[in-house]
Amino acid sequence: MDNEKRIVLTGFMGVGKSTVARHLAVILQTQKIDLDSVIEAVEKQTITQIIKTVGIMRFRQIETETLRKILTEDCARILALGGGAWTIAENRHLIKTQNCTTVWLESSFEHCWRNIKSSKRERPLAKNKIQTRELFDERQNFYCLADWHFIIRPDLTSYEIAKKIAEEVFLIKFD
Ligand code: S3P
Repeated sequence: MDNEKRIVLTGFMGVGKSTVARHLAVILQTQKIDLDSVIEAVEKQTITQIIKTVGIMRFRQIETETLRKILTEDCARILALGGGAWTIAENRHLIKTQNCTTVWLESSFEHCWRNIKSSKRERPLAKNKIQTRELFDERQNFYCLADWHFIIRPDLTSYEIAKKIAEEVFLIKFD
């Protein structure tokens, strides 16, 4: 794989994109960036506050503007998206035209839901299990457009998943 190529992690809320990105950055000795964290830093509000105050449509616009900025101005090689970003056609187009490889962290809904429930982070789009399950089902068709799919088994740690990605996508050998 091209050593300058960037990797973009996508997948449903609670699958562990940010944690896997952190481990991957350590393994590859490179920088990582988290789309939602950049949005929160720029807007000086949490994602929940942004969605509450300006609504989901405006949040999606901010998300696309921030993604464009990161892809064109930041050199971090690992980018963790928020769970909805890859489902937007314009975002997929931006990512595809910027020398990125996309990785879908694929898991069962129950696994994501357990993590959502146990996390301290508020997730405004995951308040109710039935609606969240519907969102999960609708999004599978978009996530599967990613270049690579890694199945997140509950017995694997985030570090082990990052290691697998490094081995398979970046051809790194571990002893
Ligand atoms: C969203 C996922 C969240 C965040 C926002 C919208 C979504 O990120 O971007 O609440 O539409 O799935 P995480 O996937 O990191 O929870």
